[in-house]
Formats: sequence, structure tokens, C-alpha cells
Amino acid sequence: MNMKKRVYVGMSADLIHPGHLNIIKEAEKLGEVTVGLLTDKAIASYKRLPYLTYEQRKMIVESLKGVSHVVPQETLDYVPNLKRYKPDYVVHGDDWRTGVQAEVRLRVIEVLREWGGELVEIPYTKGISSTEFNRHLRQIGTTPEVRMKRLRRLLDAKPLVRVLEAHNGLTGLIVENAKVEHNGIEKEFDGIWLSSLTDSLAKGKPDIEYVDLTSRLQTVQDILEVTTKPIIYDADTGGIPEHFVFTVKTLERLGVSATIIEDKIGLKKNSLFGTDVEQTQDSIDNFCHKIEMGKKARVTEDFMIIARIESFILKQGLEDALRRGRAYIEAGADGIMIHSKEKSPSEIFTFCRAYKQFSRRVPLVVVPTSYSSVREEELTSEGVNIVIYANQLIRSAYPAMVRTAKSILEHGRTSQVEEEILPIREILTLIPGAK
Ligand code: SPV
Ligand code: MG
Repeated sequence: MNMKKRVYVGMSADLIHPGHLNIIKEAEKLGEVTVGLLTDKAIASYKRLPYLTYEQRKMIVESLKGVSHVVPQETLDYVPNLKRYKPDYVVHGDDWRTGVQAEVRLRVIEVLREWGGELVEIPYTKGISSTEFNRHLRQIGTTPEVRMKRLRRLLDAKPLVRVLEAHNGLTGLIVENAKVEHNGIEKEFDGIWLSSLTDSLAKGKPDIEYVDLTSRLQTVQDILEVTTKPIIYDADTGGIPEHFVFTVKTLERLGVSATIIEDKIGLKKNSLFGTDVEQTQDSIDNFCHKIEMGKKARVTEDFMIIARIESFILKQGLEDALRRGRAYIEAGADGIMIHSKEKSPSEIFTFCRAYKQFSRRVPLVVVPTSYSSVREEELTSEGVNIVIYANQLIRSAYPAMVRTAKSILEHGRTSQVEEEILPIREILTLIPGAK
């Protein structure tokens, strides 16, 4: 009997290119091909979330000539699937000998040995790289629907979604493109925070809900135009419920993924003032009503309304915060943000621990501005789902600009600052399309 050999090919298949097809063609020569399709979770563990969802990618790979089966590969590590399917061959491009996959590769060789399987490596198709495709895709942009849904996808795929503030197109680009690599793992920001504080500051205004929606939407548009990442919009108190419903519809239509409203009424002041200024917390009933109105105003299930609890800010204590958390979730909040202005994260952690016991939970958001020493790993283990770095870009830019302004005044010329500032050559070509 001529039993076909079993061949396993792991891939992400976000953007199928001839390199993938070549690998499948070579794999097919060896036997019946099963593609282990990396899930969003597996991919997000080492790089940017793919553009296409798992279901979309699966549909494409299933229809490729030479592919007999598609199975999910839940981790970057091939071992669990290899043990399950015991293939005779694993076929992969030879580009994984270095970088994040080098160790994965060694484990593949080792585990295949257990049943006499073999790793077959195909020379990497030169001149084609997913990274390059990704760059082009970013230039093409995204659609409101794809962008909006991306936050929920990220929440499903990642233990902690990392968000940074932007207040104009340029800072939007920084959040979009900043990337570091550690041991082959690529780290970037997952989304953009439309902070009321930094949006107001950038317009030279105080953070007291004076900068109105029309003006803030201009900032949103500027950022939407040059980025693809999901946006979380800080809607302050949300205003009166009758106004909030319009805000929700407008943000949703634009492709913003979520809005956060805080449970305060009256003249809003920034939370980090704490009790140094007069601030009033809304009643639970009123705020729940606002959440409910917002939820009814949504057109899709995708847009998220996140309720922000100010009990710690206003010294109302843990019990009040928990009571509010339960009520807001009951009213339909799609997420809870718990805020604090303490230097230590301990009150946030007490909330997180109690929150873990809630019978109904939604994604939990924190903003570690004052407790800046907290690490992302700690937040993850406390059950936090979204971390927002709410103001650091403007705080880094402002002192640098003041220094420059003063230096020009002191020296009566600009040559002293030249060393500290971006060369004119670089600033001219910072944005593609300038030449
Ligand atoms: C903002 O960034 O505008 C926020 C967070 O609402 S905080 O400034 O801490 O209130
Ligand atoms: Mg704010």
C-alpha cells in the first residue's frame, strides 16, 4: 500500500506571496500537506497582529493548491502540534536559522527525532519579504471597520494591550511606527490614546472639557489619516447623556475603537490633581444611565464604551470602586478603567485582585502615570488587559522645545542647538512623499 507521507508546514499567511507558494509546492512533493496556521495569539506573542483574522487567513490557505488540511497552531512553538500530528516532514524556509525562530527550529529538529521525522529547509525566496509588504500596506492604510475591530482582536490575542498617547499626526506616526526588538521579539504599541489632557495641551488649553468635540475631532482626523492602529478616545465625562449619544455615533462612524468616560460631573478637572481641586463624582445611577444611553446609540457590537472609576482619585475607597465597577458592568460597560494618582500601584493592585473575583468581567484598563515604576509584567499578572501611557510624548517634547527657544534667545543664533535637534535633512524626509 502506498501510504502518503505526512508533511507539516507552519505559517502565518497574512500576506501570501510566491515564497509561501514555493514552500507549499516543495512540501507537496514530499507528501500530503497540513498547514499549521498560526493563530492571532501565536503571532502576537512575537510580532504585530496580522492584518487578516484567523478565519480569513484559513479561508485563503485552504484554497491553495497543494494544501490538504489546515489546523490551528496555537503557539510559536511547533512542538505541541508536531506531537499531535507526528509528521514525517516539516518544511520551512531556511530564513528561520537566526532570530526569534532559531530556538523554535532546534526544538522542531529535536522532537522530530522521536519518530524519525525530518526537517526540510527550502532556500528563502529572496527579494520578497513580509516586512516589506507590511510597509506598503501601512501606506495603503486601513478602513474604519477594520481599524475599529482591531482593538477587540488585540484583546483576544494579547495578554496586555499597550497604548500610547498621540495628540497630532506626527505623534500618531510615532505611535504607529516605534518598534524595538529584544531577542527576536518585536515590541510596538498596539493602539493610540486620544488623551483629553494632551489634546488640550497641544492646543494651549486646560484639561477642563473646554476643547470641544468639534475641535478634538480635528485631531482625531489628523491621526486617522496617517495611522492604522486602533484609537481609544478620552471623552472626559461624556457630557450629558443626550450629548454623549452623538459622540458615540460620531466616533464609531470614524472607526475609533473605544471611548472612555469618567464618572464625574460638573466642571471636570484633571484626575491627577486628586482632591487638591473641587471635583464631584457622579451618582452610580446617573452614570449607569449614561452608559446605557451610549450603548443604545452604537450601531455595531464592535465599538466599546469603557467606564472609568474615579473613586481612588476622590478618596472614596476600594468598596466604592468595586460597587461602581459591578454596576457599570451591569449597565453594559465594555471595559472598566480604574485610575489612581498614587506613587505606588498598591491601591490599583487591591482593585485588580478583587476584580478577579467578579462573576462578570470586562477588559480592565489602567493608566500608570503616577505609579510609573510599575512593570508591564506585573500589570499582566494582576489581570490588567490594557495599559495606557497617557501623556509621555508631549511631556518629552515640551521641555526640549523650551530649551531650544531659550538657547536661541541666549545666544542670538541657532548654532548651539543644532547638535541637539534633528538635522534639517532628516526632518525634510521624515514623512514619505516629501521629495
Ligand atoms: C488623559 O490623558 O487625559 C486622562 C488620564 O484622562 S489623566 O490625565 O491621568 O486623567
Ligand atoms: Mg482625560
